[in-house]
Amino acid sequence: MANRRSFLRGVSALSGGMFLAPHLSEAIGSKIGNFNRKHASLSNREIAEDDEFWYWVRQAFTGSENINNLNSGVVSPQPKSVQDTFDRYIRISNEAPPLYGGQIIEQSTAAVKSKLAKIAGCLPEEVALSRNTTESLETIIFGLNLKKGDEVVLTKVDHHRMKYAWRQRAQRDGIVLKWIEIDPAMDSTEHMVKRYVDQFNPKTKAIEVTHLINWSGQILPVRAIADEARKRDIDVIVDGAHSFCHFDFKIPDLNCDYFGTSLHKWLCAPYGTGMLYVRKGKAKNVWPLYASPDPLSDEINKFEYQGTENYAKAEGIAESIGFHEMIGIERKEARLRYLKNYWANKAAKIPKVKIVTTLSDEYSCAICLFHIEGTKPFEIGEILEKKYKILVRPIDHENVKGLRVTPHIFTTIRELDDLIDAITVLAA
Ligand SMILES: Cc1ncc(COP(=O)(O)O)c(C=O)c1O
Repeated sequence: MANRRSFLRGVSALSGGMFLAPHLSEAIGSKIGNFNRKHASLSNREIAEDDEFWYWVRQAFTGSENINNLNSGVVSPQPKSVQDTFDRYIRISNEAPPLYGGQIIEQSTAAVKSKLAKIAGCLPEEVALSRNTTESLETIIFGLNLKKGDEVVLTKVDHHRMKYAWRQRAQRDGIVLKWIEIDPAMDSTEHMVKRYVDQFNPKTKAIEVTHLINWSGQILPVRAIADEARKRDIDVIVDGAHSFCHFDFKIPDLNCDYFGTSLHKWLCAPYGTGMLYVRKGKAKNVWPLYASPDPLSDEINKFEYQGTENYAKAEGIAESIGFHEMIGIERKEARLRYLKNYWANKAAKIPKVKIVTTLSDEYSCAICLFHIEGTKPFEIGEILEKKYKILVRPIDHENVKGLRVTPHIFTTIRELDDLIDAITVLAA
């Protein structure tokens, strides 16, 4: 806890005054003062390379020093403060569950939805809490009024659970799915937009766009694709599982109708927390997954009838938002991209190693895939885990093959150097 407090003071001091006041006190020693003076004039890019700053961030997490976790593409660990808050509210809610389950949870849910809306740049009445991206997006996939013959355009590299949901809908309701291919090295907005637009016709009613493809880390130009779709009255559903709180954007800037995300990924919120955004005026077009008193109302809350929830989640999410905001999304994005470029540029120079994902800033951030020619990703993944204690994710899916490396804000340069050393040995 002591470490975390120091970190908060340090980070507050770096936040250009925005979060400064509540945390500055006489208890801040000369170290923090120096820290502040040293960093006050630094740009996000300079801070991205400042390992002292990120050392403090790492102190806020509780990961094992014996495991080099470069697989934050599944879920993020939570800062200790989020874990503590969650534990505390489990105990508090057990003091008087009827009271907690009644009024208190409602108030904390409303408060946390306002905070999420602020980060997302949308209205609180456009935000519903869910358990994850799957629940958010399946609400839309199963809730839209689509009839036999209506067409939906999606990519072969969309997440498999969303693909299962669309296939189930196709089997049950006779909608037609149009699959497009996206190459992980593609870095032309024009080409990606064309892939979608080539499939559009008067029967096209909806598209799914994955903002950041989990298999490769590739970022798709959602805005450009959405503009073309909406011109033709086609609904735009965005899978934002990996983009929200990973890099800087506001949901309305994407011009989409629906956006689902998991807060346990880049926001570092408690496991089993997610968010659904529904553009104002669109909720009335979607049937809720869990029945509500008025399923055709235009109120976003109709999507929150999942039954009894874990009372501690809303407080845990709020704590993770505080943590996220103290670092700031611009710094987080700059650091994540810096870490990715650091290891990927070194790996690219190793004979037989190929960087599969585009490294362009516009089309990738933290997540990137490499492949060692003549090897099997799952075999390499196993050696990295068993022998080197390095966690990455082997991928062999559609046209995407290799090992997915996902550093996080707690990742150190030494850990990336360890990865490079291991790849060098394995490639040789
Ligand atoms: C692109 C994408 N969509 C959806 C999901 C599903 O997320 P969740 O399991 O949190 O529902 C994931 C999970 O990694 C993902 O990467």
